[in-house]
Amino acid sequence: MSAESVAVRTWTVDGGDFPYQSVLTAYRRCGKALVPDDLLDALCDARVHAGGELLSFLDVLLDKRDGVYDYRSYLALPVLTPYLDDRDLLTVLLVADLMRFEAAACDDLSGPLPVMPPEDALVEKRLRHALRVIRPALDRLGWSTPVLEPGVRAEARAVCETVAAKASDAQQLMVRCSVLPVDVVHDEYLFIRVLQTFETAFAQLVRDLEAAVDALTAGAAAGAEDALCHAATLLREVSPLWSVVATMRVESFRRFRQWTEGASAIQSRHYKLMESLARRPDDARLGSAAYQNVPEIQAQVLLGLPSVDAAYREARLTLAEHAAVGAAMADFAASIDAWRRTHYRLATRMLGTDTGGTGYTNGTSYLAQAREIPVFS
Ligand code: HEM
Repeated sequence: MSAESVAVRTWTVDGGDFPYQSVLTAYRRCGKALVPDDLLDALCDARVHAGGELLSFLDVLLDKRDGVYDYRSYLALPVLTPYLDDRDLLTVLLVADLMRFEAAACDDLSGPLPVMPPEDALVEKRLRHALRVIRPALDRLGWSTPVLEPGVRAEARAVCETVAAKASDAQQLMVRCSVLPVDVVHDEYLFIRVLQTFETAFAQLVRDLEAAVDALTAGAAAGAEDALCHAATLLREVSPLWSVVATMRVESFRRFRQWTEGASAIQSRHYKLMESLARRPDDARLGSAAYQNVPEIQAQVLLGLPSVDAAYREARLTLAEHAAVGAAMADFAASIDAWRRTHYRLATRMLGTDTGGTGYTNGTSYLAQAREIPVFS
């Protein structure tokens, strides 16, 4: 029996501190897709005694064994969920960890996920784009620190040190437990962190659109305008994440993708909720794979989820208010259109002639169609 299985079994019998580090090290050594059975068995037995955050973590570790592996478990969303309400904090924790991992790759070639490590110049590029995403959130948290040495690496180091000093033990544990690549390829870490940071943004967009609906229903045009403007600004603020993920090597992506079948962002509840809160999807889309993959959201729409589009049409606004909210809606729609276009371009480049998606759609043709869907009517 492996040392980590023994550690888990000892915890199951004796209790005490769960052996997080040895389990994570074992998972990173082989990738989630190839974890040995004796460790999976030990984790299954341990789960009976677990509760709270440890239970969420074990569910994520055992998703493939349980036959429930999907986008949510791939991104460890159950582990991140308690933090999703605090967008700036979660963004900072995730992006700082991504930078720490990239920077470490140059110093320690025998670290976790050793296959296809990036060269120095590539790491530098990744750090530069990641800094663009993290700076505004750091400022709002009041966590910005003066950078004493020039250069991207020095700034990234300063950011990582500040975040490590400010994050609580519970936050640091959440960060460590929320990245479980299926393979051992370096770039998969970056892919997971980018998807998670976008999910964090989608969760905030959902709150903004809900606020816009409420404001319009109350006839508060300025409130609706603010909420829509906040949403559009946020989506643009995180758009350098596309530049980060575009640095992923196609060969790395294709290698770990062999294990990600069944986990697709088509299952993102936040994305579909955001889309539906903007405008009720047409019946054809609502009945298609787009919404069959998120049955909870499909049900909410069928039960009459209110939308910004409908609330705007029904709101009693002055002409000037009508124009101002209309302009804010158009600006938000433009930010979504830009997101969809960039996503489509990246997907086409990464997939090449392999047009199928991991969500069992016809891949890039699905995306080409989805790209044309109006955000508002
Ligand atoms: C290598 C990069 C990527 C590729 C090749 C890719 C590919 C695809 C494909 C083929 C689909 C269609 C559904 C399916 O069959 O899987 C899809 C959907 C989607 N992807 Fe990506 N994607 C990539 C990166 C991302 C990133 C970084 C995000 C950010 C969260 C993202 C978010 C989404 C969303 C929200 C959908 C659902 C869109 C809809 O249903 O209209 N993707 N992606």
